[in-house]
Amino acid sequence: MATTEFVTEGFHHVALVAGDRDRAVAFYGDLLGFALVHEGQEEDGARLVFGDAAGRPGTLLDVAVRPGGGRGAFGVGGVHHVALGVSDEAQQLKWKRRLADAGVPVSGPYDRTWFHSIYFTDPDGQILEIATEGPGFAVDEPAEALGQALIQPKPQRLVGQRDEAAIRATTHPEPVLEIDAAMRLWGLHHVTGFTGDLDAAGHFYEGGLGLRLVKRSVNQDDPDTLHYFWANYDGTRVLPSSDVTFFGWPAHARGTRPGVGQTDHVAFRAKDADQLEGWREHLLAQGIAVSAVEEDGPFARVTFQAPDGLRHELATDGPGFGGG
Ligand SMILES: [Fe+2]
Ligand SMILES: [Fe+2]
Repeated sequence: MATTEFVTEGFHHVALVAGDRDRAVAFYGDLLGFALVHEGQEEDGARLVFGDAAGRPGTLLDVAVRPGGGRGAFGVGGVHHVALGVSDEAQQLKWKRRLADAGVPVSGPYDRTWFHSIYFTDPDGQILEIATEGPGFAVDEPAEALGQALIQPKPQRLVGQRDEAAIRATTHPEPVLEIDAAMRLWGLHHVTGFTGDLDAAGHFYEGGLGLRLVKRSVNQDDPDTLHYFWANYDGTRVLPSSDVTFFGWPAHARGTRPGVGQTDHVAFRAKDADQLEGWREHLLAQGIAVSAVEEDGPFARVTFQAPDGLRHELATDGPGFGGG
């Protein structure tokens, strides 16, 4: 396989840490509408896997239940938030209403230029976002030249300048008791972490995983912080569910503390066991330390780390939790 073939098809799963089994099922299952596609007891505790009904890669949240586990904190080498995808702004507002009516505080919707976002936390403190599919990264740069210029957000979208009262008041007019097909969350939209070195992160995600820089901007909520986006991008199209983004913090900024309420790792897709072996050799050739191929329930995987220590996996698409 040529080096150029090592381009991941995007997210396989995101692994979270929860403090209580029933609370996690009530939140991710009942409230957010994900199917519980696997529940098991492993050496170090219970494991819940949520996703779409078929348990497809790109929809999976792999939740480790650690009652009494210490609470984590975000920082360099960790994830700030996990974004789940929804079709459009009208459906997103239904989520805002449904969550708020369930007692979950929601902020937004914010116009992030390339998509619209609302934010909330799960019962353990993990920050979550629901993001719209569009308008996409080509809204302010040519589709064939993404990530080339540093883009400053429009002033009216920046913290301190946007109309927070109007944003707070924007919601769906009626209670949303049922999750219909149109509003269903389709899976992982993007994952955003912190790095102390955007150049090193770029080298890792581009060289290791075959992703490409698709947007360079600043954090609208903290405009002194750079915000870079990488994704599976063929020069014309950005593949959905492949976008990993980073806030660039100073190298000496506070590091993440793993634990309850934090993302444990982010897994990307490898097709099958053969391709996984190829990936392993590819990562080694890039100077990235990587585990042997391991079994993880229905998947095979390898594990490795980004330069700041963020833990990653490459996991096979199949055989999966399917049929559930
Ligand atoms: Fe995993
Ligand atoms: Fe985000």
